[in-house]
Amino acid sequence: MAKPYFITTPIYYVNDVPHIGHAYTTVAADVFCRWKKQSGGAVLLTGTDEHGAKIQEAAAKHSKTPKEYADIISAEFKKAWGLLNINYDRFIRTTDEDHEATAKSFLQKLYDGGYVKKGIYRGKYCVGHEKFMSDEELVGGKCPDHGKAPADYEEENYFFLLGGFRERIISLIESGRLAIEPDARRNEILGKLERGLDDISISRLREKTSWGIPLPWDDAHTMYVWVEALINYYTYGKPNGLWPADLHLVGKDILWFHSVIWPAMLLAIGEEPSRKVFAHGFFSIGGRKMSKTLGNVITPQQLADKFGVDGARYLLLAAFPFGADGDFDWARLVEKYNADLANGIGNLASRITTLAGGLDDITLGVGDSVNASARPLKAAYEEAMEKLDFFAALQTTQKLVSATDSYINETKPWELSGAGKKAALANLLGMLVGAARFIQPFVPDTAKKIFAALGIDDFTRDRGKPLSVSKIEPLFPRMENS
Ligand code: MSP
Repeated sequence: MAKPYFITTPIYYVNDVPHIGHAYTTVAADVFCRWKKQSGGAVLLTGTDEHGAKIQEAAAKHSKTPKEYADIISAEFKKAWGLLNINYDRFIRTTDEDHEATAKSFLQKLYDGGYVKKGIYRGKYCVGHEKFMSDEELVGGKCPDHGKAPADYEEENYFFLLGGFRERIISLIESGRLAIEPDARRNEILGKLERGLDDISISRLREKTSWGIPLPWDDAHTMYVWVEALINYYTYGKPNGLWPADLHLVGKDILWFHSVIWPAMLLAIGEEPSRKVFAHGFFSIGGRKMSKTLGNVITPQQLADKFGVDGARYLLLAAFPFGADGDFDWARLVEKYNADLANGIGNLASRITTLAGGLDDITLGVGDSVNASARPLKAAYEEAMEKLDFFAALQTTQKLVSATDSYINETKPWELSGAGKKAALANLLGMLVGAARFIQPFVPDTAKKIFAALGIDDFTRDRGKPLSVSKIEPLFPRMENS
């Protein structure tokens, strides 16, 4: 039997509570996983990244030990994913025992393989990013994302001999064995690799950064949090027969770690690198970066309070193309909600179940001409989903919804009777099931309600059996833009 398709999200830092930036990646991963499950096995891993200086500092600010603080914030992430109906298979914490053990044995293998050496690291370190910053990345001497000048850093560290993997990583990417998507990101990574690849520091002096997993061969050092965090995918994937990972879904900010450092680490221990890394864009709120200082942070709870859980999930992915950067503002979200959900699938489901409600003996199964016009839409939808082009997949869904609306207006089933009426309603119900199937990964509860109103469990139900249709409650009440 083929192994399930293994999808991961980044594991999120526990320095602060989740916002809709974190929800964006996680909902996307969940949608993709639910879609994959329509045709086979798929597994989703998410979790929290809990070690390192960033968490140590945040905990101290709240007068908590790092572990106490991590427990609190990690629970907030779990709660948010519960709220958003994220169907993960494991929520991993880097303080989990199995992860600590795997991280140690992974690094020991790197060390035993001769891929680690000791040296002095000098550079500028941004704790917010947990990474060294090059001069080109700084603006006016400051990290542009955190608004602070990174600290001067000079420490005796262990290094991973990353530079030696340059050619192998380039050929993995060029051959397509390691896919980096979208294409523009792949070119960016290849361009950077062409300019060279340095070894990287993989440890911190424990006397300075105590909150971390000790190096197995020298406990005066803790592991560099990024190197340790990447291993989480392997901690879960390897013993569960899921390796190599099929898809790491990440924001564009952390693509380098996933597409260069991580595959090299895997090659160094003789493991298969992951198959694909997809980097999505970042969004801003009302044209500005989402930040506590600006006071424009939106939490998953706020979004769900306004639009419902399915509304929130839908809007995150329907607002702009997934690979690109975009902007959210409340007014545009309300417009989109009304257009696509209230006036779109919500209205369509009401119309059709009102027309067909209470009538006996209608069976599912569309006529040839409806089938012929739906086929290209199905193909376009599947192709878009395969490419993680959620935006295009939802546009196709809207096309099916409009076509179905037009079909109602043209055939006027309320003016028909007998076999003609039955055939028209069977077509409409079939088209509604098709639309519900398309949106099911995005809005699973809504799809469930539609199927329930037709008396079926899901779209896989046998054709030809009589439906039992009841009028559906409004799925997405219209919203005023205030
Ligand atoms: N802990 C690391 C990841 C380790 S993975 C082995 C980390 N954590 S994070 O909490 O900072 O999360 C970063 C991720 O959150 C981004 O890569 C992206 O997926 C998501 N986003 C955070 N803000 C976002 C936006 N404003 N827009 C879109 N995605 C955003 O980095």
